[in-house]
Amino acid sequence: MPGLFYFKRYAESRTAHPCLIGGCRDREEKPGAERRIIMEITGSISEVRAQVKEWRKQGLTVGLVPTMGYLHEGHKSLIDRAVAENDRVVVSDFVNPIQFGVNEDLATYPRDIEADKRLCGEAGADLIFHPEAEEMYAPDFSTYVETEKVSKGLCGRTRPTHFRGVCTVVCKLFHIVMPDRAYFGQKDAQQLAVIRRMVRDLDMDIQIVGCPIIREADGLAKSSRNTYLNKEERKAALVLSRAVFYGESMIKNGERDAEAVLEAMRGLIEAEPLARIDYVEMVDADSIQPLARAAGRVLVAVAVYIGRTRLIDNFILEV
Ligand code: PAJ
Repeated sequence: MPGLFYFKRYAESRTAHPCLIGGCRDREEKPGAERRIIMEITGSISEVRAQVKEWRKQGLTVGLVPTMGYLHEGHKSLIDRAVAENDRVVVSDFVNPIQFGVNEDLATYPRDIEADKRLCGEAGADLIFHPEAEEMYAPDFSTYVETEKVSKGLCGRTRPTHFRGVCTVVCKLFHIVMPDRAYFGQKDAQQLAVIRRMVRDLDMDIQIVGCPIIREADGLAKSSRNTYLNKEERKAALVLSRAVFYGESMIKNGERDAEAVLEAMRGLIEAEPLARIDYVEMVDADSIQPLARAAGRVLVAVAVYIGRTRLIDNFILEV
């Protein structure tokens, strides 16, 4: 129907998968979005492969946006970019168990697939891949992808198996979707560096596109984990962006000594009683190795507990 687009049950005649959308909902179409008539959702690897194969046969390019769901404006900025740069866009929506440590928040990680479907539909994505863990990991799953060094500092220190879990699932998603381009946020700057390294080292023929950090109006970087914060913690969480903006302005104003920048940032964070620093560091943005002086592509990254919630933020500057 011209002027409308709708969600459709994916492959109605096949055995229903728990992740398939039920029902159709008519909604108003965005001007100029005619080609994205139907957004589908599946939890099946083989259905994703069949769909992508079909698109390839038509000569269409494919973009992939890997996510763990509970989508917000940060994720949407990645999807928007992917929609602008590719003929078809797949969003994966999967809380990947193997990237969570034993004492981390796998069980409580927020989920809302209905809201995710709406956001993806509005952004113009074509397919959501929303598998169960069993679809991704056989009971005797035993193959992992590990990047050395890049994944050891910063978040890797407190989360020693995290990037192995991220690389493994992203590698699997790349093999399932075989996209031309894949989109990642600079919000997770170390993750972006680790994935770029994996793609280079293992000769994966996929262009990795890094996208800027999207923030709330008051500066807090958008994150699914912000939902854990109570009112008081939400206010306290502003120390992350305040420290990041301050450190960035110091380097822009000519400071090159890492300790001078980091000490000033730490001082700001430590002044907030609800904040506990995990790390505040200056590293090379590609190798994630520590820098004593700001030079080259500089990443200054922070991880701070606000109450029980661990939040991250950063800036990257070419010096
Ligand atoms: P998730 O935390 O859901 O994030 C998915 C993507 O959205 C990541 O590339 C992340 O950097 C980006 N993103 C999150 N918040 C953002 C913000 N405020 N601005 C810009 N981009 C933002 O990162 C993961 O999931 C997982 O580790 C994944 C790569 C999907 C593997 O499981």
